[in-house]
Amino acid sequence: MQIENRTAFITGGASGLGEAVTRHLHSLGANVVVVDRSAKRGHALQEALAERILFVPADVAEEESMSKAVRLAVEKFEALHIAVCCAGIAPAKRVLGRDGIMPLELFAETIQVNLVGCFNAVRLAAEAMMINAREGDGERGVVIMTSSIAAREGQVGQAAYAASKGGVDSLTLPLAREFSPLGIRVMTIAPGLFNTPMMDSISDEAKESLAGQIPFPQRLGRPVEFARLVAEVIGNRMLNGSVIRLDGALRMGPK
Ligand SMILES: NC(=O)c1ccc[n+]([C@@H]2O[C@H](COP(=O)([O-])OP(=O)(O)OC[C@H]3O[C@@H](n4cnc5c(N)ncnc54)[C@H](O)[C@@H]3O)[C@@H](O)[C@H]2O)c1
Repeated sequence: MQIENRTAFITGGASGLGEAVTRHLHSLGANVVVVDRSAKRGHALQEALAERILFVPADVAEEESMSKAVRLAVEKFEALHIAVCCAGIAPAKRVLGRDGIMPLELFAETIQVNLVGCFNAVRLAAEAMMINAREGDGERGVVIMTSSIAAREGQVGQAAYAASKGGVDSLTLPLAREFSPLGIRVMTIAPGLFNTPMMDSISDEAKESLAGQIPFPQRLGRPVEFARLVAEVIGNRMLNGSVIRLDGALRMGPK
C-alpha cells in the first residue's frame, strides 16, 4: 500500500510509539487520523502538524466513540486505508503482592484496553476498508497491531499485560486469514523496550540497567525506529499474518 495520499487511522497516536507513527506517516504524505483518550496531547499534535490531520478524542474500548471516530475519518478524508493500533496501558502489579491480591478490575481493564480496544479498532477500520477500490494485487488496506515481547517473556508483575498482548499476537493470523480475500493485510509488531512516556515512571538508572540487558544496540529503542518498521510493513505486501519482534535481540528474564 502506498503511503502518500492514503489515510492512516492511528490509535494511541498522540504519544510515544503512536505519535512517532503519526509524524512519520504524515511526513511521507499520508492523511492521519489520531485517536487517543488524551485530548491535550491530541490537540497539541493537531496544532503542530496543522494539515492532513484529524484528532478524535476517544476510548478505544468504547463501541460508540470508536465507530464515530471511523465515521469522522471517512467523512473528512473519504476513505481509510491503514490502521495502526498503538493505544495501550502497562500496569505493573504482582498477582499476590505485598499490598494484597491483584484486584480483578485491574486485570479486566488491561484486557479491555489492550486487547478488546485493539480488536474494536481493527474490526471497525477493516469494515471501512472494504469499500476501497482494489489496488495492486487486489489490496484494499493494511492493519498493524502493537503487541510486546512481554507476550512471550512476561516478567513478574506483568501477568495482566502479557496476557493482553498474547491475545493481540493470537489475533494476528486468524484476522489475516479472514481478511485476505478482502485484500486487507494484518500484521503485528512486538516491540522490546522503547523510550516513550510509558517508561516515564522508571528512573533513569533503571532505564540504563534495562538498556544494558539489550544485546545490541545497548540502548532503548527510539520511537521513530518503530515508525519506520510500520512504514515498511505498509509498503511490503508479502508481510501478512505474522508478528515481528523489534527488540535488539532482548529476551527478558523473569524479573
Ligand atoms: N514503550 C515500550 O517500551 C513498549 C514496549 C512494548 C510494547 N509497547 C506497546 O506500544 C504501545 C504504545 O506504547 P507507548 O510506549 O507509546 O505508550 P504511551 O503511554 O506513550 O502511549 C500510549 C497512548 O495510548 C493512549 N491510550 C491509552 N489507553 C487508551 C484508550 N483506552 N483509548 C484511547 N487511547 C488510549 C494514551 O493516551 C497514550 O497517548 C502500547 O500498546 C504498549 O503496550 C510499548
